[in-house]
Amino acid sequence: MEKFNIAIDGPAGAGKSTIARLVANTLGFIYVDTGAMYRAVTWSILQAGLIPEQESEVIAMTRELDIRLEPGPSGQQVIVNGRDVTLDIRTVQVTSNVSQIARIAEVRHILTDKQKLLAIDKGVVMDGRDIGTHVLPDAELKFFLTASVKVRAERRFNETRDRPEVTLEQLEQEIAARDQMDAQRTHAPLIQAADAVLLDTTDLTIPLVVERILELCRTKVGGG
Ligand code: DC
Repeated sequence: MEKFNIAIDGPAGAGKSTIARLVANTLGFIYVDTGAMYRAVTWSILQAGLIPEQESEVIAMTRELDIRLEPGPSGQQVIVNGRDVTLDIRTVQVTSNVSQIARIAEVRHILTDKQKLLAIDKGVVMDGRDIGTHVLPDAELKFFLTASVKVRAERRFNETRDRPEVTLEQLEQEIAARDQMDAQRTHAPLIQAADAVLLDTTDLTIPLVVERILELCRTKVGGG
């Protein structure tokens, strides 16, 4: 089967990473989680005692970082300068700072260049916020996944392990705030590419969404 690239964008909690991983596994493609790269930068700067506002230091650090996404026994592992940070990048502290890091244009350039390289040989399913619009504008297939804020908050609520005290309402507010920041930033904001297929996952199960994407792979590019 010929290789091609699939771009999957959408807001937090729309099911992108689970769906992208399943699609990649079925097709035998490589899954690339670009959000993990922004999280890896955020973890590194916090670890170094910096804050997102220290832009020139953040940019210098981003240039030096060796970020690797490697397949592991329980999904993708994120390695930064040789250290496994897969779990560290999912903490509340990283989550609440990452949108501010993702706003910095030069950080986006550095990471976008790395992401383009990862997809150069095709056979990649890449998820993020700007994949169809900026990172892989020539991807053979593009999807934009959405779901209501309420459903996305419920999904996060069910998978949140490190914040036993958090309420559903709090998560709803946080998700809405992060959406707003991601959609309103000047550089590569979260928007649907003109040629992306919109899939609203509010009332759809994960297997159904995966099947719809695979169906389009079969009809549009003869894959699957
Ligand atoms: O998908 P996620 O929650 O792991 O993403 C973390 C943050 O990174 C999120 O606030 C949006 C940002 N991001 C981005 O700006 N561009 C991408 N391609 C991927 C993520």
